[in-house]
Amino acid sequence: MLYDRIGAAYTVTRRTEPRIAAAVWAALGDARTVLNVGAGTGSYEPADRDVLAVEPSAVMRAQRPAGAAPCVAAPAESLPFKDQSFDAAMAFATIHHWQDPIAGLREMQRVARRVVVFTHDTSDAGWLDRFWLTRDYLPETAELLVGRPSAQELADSIGARVEPVLIPWDCVDGFFEAYWRRPEAYLDDRVRRGVSVWTRVGPAAEQRAVHSLRADLDSGRWADRNRDLLDLDAAELGLRLLVS
Ligand SMILES: C[S@@+](CC[C@H](N)C(=O)[O-])C[C@H]1O[C@@H](n2cnc3c(N)ncnc32)[C@H](O)[C@@H]1O
Repeated sequence: MLYDRIGAAYTVTRRTEPRIAAAVWAALGDARTVLNVGAGTGSYEPADRDVLAVEPSAVMRAQRPAGAAPCVAAPAESLPFKDQSFDAAMAFATIHHWQDPIAGLREMQRVARRVVVFTHDTSDAGWLDRFWLTRDYLPETAELLVGRPSAQELADSIGARVEPVLIPWDCVDGFFEAYWRRPEAYLDDRVRRGVSVWTRVGPAAEQRAVHSLRADLDSGRWADRNRDLLDLDAAELGLRLLVS
């Protein structure tokens, strides 16, 4: 279990981003009972509904704050609940870690009337080029995507619609793309340790990317290449909500 190895410092940089949470909670509609699958430390769990969490990593479960929703140890692909036990099931920034994401989505649909998933769309050939970090510093990200279903394939497997989610420039949840307008953040080891991509590409690629980004920030090359981003308040970098 990857997160038993890398998850210990998760809450240093990872927390609920209120503007993205608003989109997730709106998509939950009038659901009173909500299952949060791959729940981690409890980010994005709505406080005004009856939530049950599912999380296979003991290290992540141990970091859930006092008073967080109860949490069951299980993988998404085999949810220990009867059919249609919940009004809704949600999954945030987790399905790219599942061994079989489509099986997990079908499980969510089996146990809940509504399914809301936050993930990223990597199907577009331009996706890798859209974010300067993957395009100019970490092309190894492409290797992590081999064999993964596209967002549309995931959506089709449960009859979901796909909605784009913009990332605010000052996003407070430190996921991979969160610092698109704050490039210095990626030089900080604490920021990188909160995102599995950096571990998965390996230390050689990580160190090369950081070294090269630092040099481009110092020389002004990053600013020259990415001038157009500095006026944007939010960016479209392939993040998506799947809603069924
Ligand atoms: C990036 S974290 C996201 C956690 C939380 N949803 C959040 O938004 O902060 C990914 C989580 O997916 C969990 N995970 C990995 N494989 C899983 C699986 N097969 N089923 C359910 N969760 C899984 C990991 O243990 C980890 O807690």
